[in-house]
Amino acid sequence: MAGGSDAPFSIPVSSRIQRLPPYLFARINALKAEKRRAGHDIIDLGMGNPIDPSPDFVVEKLAEAAHDARNHRYSASVGIFNLRREVALKYKRKYGVELDPEKEIVVTIGSKEGFSHLMLAMLGAGDTVVVGDPAYPIHVYAVALAGGNVISVKLGNDEAFLERIEHVLRNLFPRPKLVILNYPHNPAAMTVEPLFYQQAVALARQYGVLLINDFAYGETCFDSYRAPSFLAAPGAKEVGVEFSTMSKPYNMAGWRVGFCCGNSEMVRALSTIKGYYDYGHFQPIQIASILALRKGDDFVASQSLVYQKRRDVLVSGLRKLGWEVEVPRASMFVWAKVDPKHLAGEGTIDFALRLIENADVALAPGRGFGESGEGFMRIALVENELRIKQALRQMDAYLNGRKKHQRPSAYSGDRQMSSPPSDQPVI
Ligand SMILES: Cc1ncc(COP(=O)(O)O)c(C=O)c1O
Repeated sequence: MAGGSDAPFSIPVSSRIQRLPPYLFARINALKAEKRRAGHDIIDLGMGNPIDPSPDFVVEKLAEAAHDARNHRYSASVGIFNLRREVALKYKRKYGVELDPEKEIVVTIGSKEGFSHLMLAMLGAGDTVVVGDPAYPIHVYAVALAGGNVISVKLGNDEAFLERIEHVLRNLFPRPKLVILNYPHNPAAMTVEPLFYQQAVALARQYGVLLINDFAYGETCFDSYRAPSFLAAPGAKEVGVEFSTMSKPYNMAGWRVGFCCGNSEMVRALSTIKGYYDYGHFQPIQIASILALRKGDDFVASQSLVYQKRRDVLVSGLRKLGWEVEVPRASMFVWAKVDPKHLAGEGTIDFALRLIENADVALAPGRGFGESGEGFMRIALVENELRIKQALRQMDAYLNGRKKHQRPSAYSGDRQMSSPPSDQPVI
């Protein structure tokens, strides 16, 4: 070949990719995969990926609709009207919220896609966004990918948290454009009452900032708690939107159906971006989702009860281990403060590696969700009660000294991948 050079050909990826913060779960995922390849049965309470099946009647509808050739064409990027109308009916039924399916609802390819593209629709280079710390990582990554800057504020679910946000809004210039809320929270499982959203809306109006609530766990509630919708706060639609999803309440994570509802300008901005990027879901998925929304209330309630029972087993076991745990009222997670004697001076990322190596149990280290997560582990309710009990026994045997301590084989104190692997899992 003519004109060749021995120098390695360089592939200049965009600065957008280079702006991504380090992916702190990479070493954990690598070790988990290595142990599994070596034949270990790792009990994985690390990822928030539901293990229980989607409702049968929804799967059947999907199959039926898939046999109809009229459903094989490109669909609508904002979602078919009947699905948006069903979302409006559900918001009305559950939360008393009126939504116009034409202007105030867009169907997204999971709420993660919707959130990410909304950031692209709303942010320009240098815009700032206030995010609680710890946070679900996409709330940070999507801002970075859209060219924005994140201002982290120590997370809370009360007036003190809103005061911390207000302090930033008052003192930062140019003023932040968006505030991201997420209740019930991932990873901290915090919940709020309606008054919180009323105060947040007042703050948004006072400072001219927009609000986004990630309501992914809005229907995964325990005992008598019912998570309020942000959109039920008076004036919420003037200042923001809420994301919801089929993934968690209906065990439809792989189907990738979410919704962005509320402020019509923000919904329009997201719809515009989606109109350029995608053609919407395979229509049978949308048709089956309509049925899930219409007939799935009992399914959602019984799935929440499954998580509630797992929560009870987990909370009591962790307390016996000596970890500090608040009983969560919602979400798929328990957020536990590790007994310092178990941490033995290490950070939670190294601790998580040790647990995989020595106890065959994978948990998500709090540090992976932000600096304020250090000292905590997030434990997802995604194994059955027997497996959760087994995981607790294995942790007890290792942490309370009845099993020899080993350094993880993939352990490397200084190795840290700076970008996610291409098959980045759910966290
Ligand atoms: C807070 C939060 N938002 C959004 C998502 C993603 O949901 P979806 O499957 O709708 O993209 C998750 C998934 O774990 C989550 O925890």
